[in-house]
Amino acid sequence: MHTTFQKKCFLFFLSKKEELIFSVLFLLSNNLIRMDFANKVVVITGGSEGIGRALVEMMLNSGAKVATCGRKHDKLYQLQTRFPGKPLHVVVADVSNESDCNHFIQSTLKTFGKIDVLINNAGLSMRATVLESDVAAFKRLMDVNYWGTVYCTKAALPSIIENKGTIAGISSIVGYRGMPGRSAYSASKFAMRGWLEALRVEMLQHGVNVLWVSPGFIATNIRSVALNAKGEPIGETPMDESKLMSAEECAMHIIKAIEKRKRAIVLTFTGKATVLITKFFPTFADKYIHRFFFKDGKLIK
Ligand SMILES: NC(=O)c1ccc[n+]([C@@H]2O[C@H](COP(=O)([O-])OP(=O)(O)OC[C@H]3O[C@@H](n4cnc5c(N)ncnc54)[C@H](OP(=O)(O)O)[C@@H]3O)[C@@H](O)[C@H]2O)c1
Repeated sequence: MHTTFQKKCFLFFLSKKEELIFSVLFLLSNNLIRMDFANKVVVITGGSEGIGRALVEMMLNSGAKVATCGRKHDKLYQLQTRFPGKPLHVVVADVSNESDCNHFIQSTLKTFGKIDVLINNAGLSMRATVLESDVAAFKRLMDVNYWGTVYCTKAALPSIIENKGTIAGISSIVGYRGMPGRSAYSASKFAMRGWLEALRVEMLQHGVNVLWVSPGFIATNIRSVALNAKGEPIGETPMDESKLMSAEECAMHIIKAIEKRKRAIVLTFTGKATVLITKFFPTFADKYIHRFFFKDGKLIK
């Protein structure tokens, strides 16, 4: 524990370049330690793209039986053809729909007989100010990010308790710090984190570990499919995605955290700095974040 704290302090004071070198070394050393999920059944929501897809691939390579879902059949079919002969169960399910979640979990139990790990990963973002947005877009974010987590966790909980397993939620830095243009995304991730934190304490007596992961910016499709003020996909990203942490590196951190039965992790240098600065200098953080996201009164990121 002492070593982890020292590593966190050390990372906080590194420059971007040094952090990259440190991250590569960290990844290499983690690769040398073989992750072993043999005979474990791992359920990952939203596994057809981005962080979820990287999690599916790494979990299969570490010996797990994996079940995943998404809304689009074609993407799930493509995923399955990438792993012929591997124990991968895919189901078309929209996590914002309670009966889809129940069906997904029940068909996983029918296929693999149990669930050891549930990773609530499926998620949706938005990019529009409160002033210009339709309330319907806010509700959609809560339905996917918060209610999706609640529905899947409730359905899988009895089997996870039986196996003294793990429930993980892929939250975000916006689950610690509200971000402009992402009001409903922030609200949904705060809600998810609060719900999981309460569940974590309830599960202590059952030997189930509950954790939440809070990544900063990760290079995926999430910003392109994020909703605009009218609740439609934006179709482009305002970030230079090539400069962001990869989905594979993010997935590696998540799997290590699950393996070590951690409580919570915060990822990326910017993410860690944002959480710390918000905690100790919230008013300064407000102004700094405003400068980062707005130009001439317009939301640019
Ligand atoms: N990328 C980042 O910068 C970042 C940062 C912090 C946190 N996160 C969190 O990480 C998680 C994964 O994000 P990502 O960046 O990998 O996103 P992504 O590339 O957009 O992938 C999202 C995945 O979730 C599925 N999905 C979306 N809505 C769904 C729904 N209603 N029901 C079922 N599946 C659904 C998508 O498949 P379909 O489209 O086929 O449904 C896709 O497989 C999210 O919870 C996100 O909030 C991401």
